[in-house]
Amino acid sequence: MKEIKRIFLVGFMGSGKSTLGRRLRTEMGWDFLDLDDVFEEKFKVKIKQYFSVHGEDAFRIAEKEVLKDVLDKERVIIATGGGTPCFFDNMDVMNNNGLSIYLKLSVDVLIGRLSGGKQVRPLVAGKSGQELRDFICAKLQEREFFYNKAQVVADAEVLGVEAFVQIIEASGKLI
Ligand code: S3P
Repeated sequence: MKEIKRIFLVGFMGSGKSTLGRRLRTEMGWDFLDLDDVFEEKFKVKIKQYFSVHGEDAFRIAEKEVLKDVLDKERVIIATGGGTPCFFDNMDVMNNNGLSIYLKLSVDVLIGRLSGGKQVRPLVAGKSGQELRDFICAKLQEREFFYNKAQVVADAEVLGVEAFVQIIEASGKLI
């Protein structure tokens, strides 16, 4: 049985990766890391600011570095950024270093989660209504190819934390 040393939660912005990650930390007694937070601590800058100063291409290179940094951690649940799986060989890196789980949600639910309020996410900040819908539809279509490489594709609209624990325990031997 495959040994699981870390769990990577992947999925679109607003899919609940960090919320689920924190709940799994409580349930499993593992550590939890949010890759966006690790990024901001490492580079001492908010992601939104990094995007506006350096642009997305530079962000993706730096994000890959941050992903590499967490690979020496064990017994850890890692909430990745919505774009992390979609650049370079990041999805392969995650699959080779842990259990990856795609939190799949419908476009309508994602719209509800990403609209309103003050958006700190640079890719959706300032978008609303039809513009937000068009963006999510197009991006999700482009990104699902990568998300679907996850070892587990989970219906995050219906599954609760206990179901996720069961899925994880059935997927391998937790170290
Ligand atoms: C991004 C998602 C964000 C963050 C950055 C880019 C994306 O993370 O990494 O703003 O490309 O989808 P969350 O998915 O945690 O919001």
